[in-house]
Amino acid sequence: MCLAPREDFPEIIDRGVVYLDSAASTLKPRQVIEAMARFAMYSYSNVHRGVYGLSIEASKAYEDSHEDVARFIGGRWDEIIFVRNTSEAIQLAALTLMFNGYIQKGDEIIVTQADHHSLIIPLARIAKFVGARLRIIPITAEGLPAWDLLPSIINKRTRIVAFSHKSNVTGYASDVKQIAKIAHEHNAIVIVDGAQSVPHMKIDVKNLGADFLAFSGHKMLGPTGIGVLWGRIDLLERLEPPLGGGGTVRRVKLAGEDLDILWEEPPWRFETGTPPIIEAVGLSEAIRYLERIGIDRIYEHERILTRMALRSLGELDERVKVIGPMDPDKRVGIVTFTIKGSSPEAIGMWLDKRRIAVRTGLHCAHALHDGLGYSDGSVRASFYLYNCENDIEALIKAIDDYIKTSG
Ligand SMILES: Cc1ncc(COP(=O)(O)O)c(C=O)c1O
Repeated sequence: MCLAPREDFPEIIDRGVVYLDSAASTLKPRQVIEAMARFAMYSYSNVHRGVYGLSIEASKAYEDSHEDVARFIGGRWDEIIFVRNTSEAIQLAALTLMFNGYIQKGDEIIVTQADHHSLIIPLARIAKFVGARLRIIPITAEGLPAWDLLPSIINKRTRIVAFSHKSNVTGYASDVKQIAKIAHEHNAIVIVDGAQSVPHMKIDVKNLGADFLAFSGHKMLGPTGIGVLWGRIDLLERLEPPLGGGGTVRRVKLAGEDLDILWEEPPWRFETGTPPIIEAVGLSEAIRYLERIGIDRIYEHERILTRMALRSLGELDERVKVIGPMDPDKRVGIVTFTIKGSSPEAIGMWLDKRRIAVRTGLHCAHALHDGLGYSDGSVRASFYLYNCENDIEALIKAIDDYIKTSG
């Protein structure tokens, strides 16, 4: 059974692709592409600059997109900052904290070994830049963050606890609420990378526990070029943006050799320059599409496909090693594996000949792969609402053939 009409996704129907790479980026339904094209052709102009009809219309569409994203994650529209992608959203959160003196020499930042480079790298660099110490929660034998070590690592110098909500390798979702509770008891700020969680599971930022949440439009049926940083409004209101420019200020005056700047209210003070206007319209349409299907149904659908893939892979051959938990209750939407004696690229190319698209390599999670002894990488199949059971069957059949052929 598929959850979404496959006709909405021309690459599946017209190109016959078995698309199992949604964790990297999802396919786009016609509705999203058409909404963007319509807007670009008939309603486009720059936003927040003009008094003419088109500009007012475009500004309204752009502001409405903030409302749509806010509704989707249970936040306020003015807590939604549009950026380019998750990577940029995490850097914006971290740079904002640094710029406002929140993280200084001698302070500590906690990340985990399971995190994506988009999170580990910016936080490591900021730590180095200000002379703070980076603390890394190691992984367990299953490749999950060893969160039980958090109480022994966190301390009064900890200023930021940052981590991926759901791993793009193991599909395991950490308990944000529990981690945030411990972090907040130490007055640390919690930055959550929601790139793999927001598109796939119900998120309500009011209950999540995070102070910042980052995610990407292109991983949730939306276009590339738009991502979101959600931040708690009381924090955003107190913080100056690290990046200034057009649209971020209400008034600027020369003050001797300095500038006297009156910042715009959030979110505008954090959205520098001309924003991703057409992309915001596409993201709104993507959210409406996801809402029509229902995020809880999407989660359940992925659970069924994950369970099926895990069970079938486990039964194939002893050379097949699944990375991460085998327990289907501990992972959703992502199944990563290796085949002993074969390179992930060789497997990926074999699958490609059968029009099955998977991801191969280290998935921007080198520390996780190294820690588990898979430094040559792995093969990742990831699922979304347009996948069906027969996609999993096609994958398993192709891997079975590969194993038989490769001896
Ligand atoms: C967990 C996680 N974080 C961050 C990213 C980066 O997303 P983007 O490339 O949209 O910045 C990804 C993308 O694969 C991801 O899986």
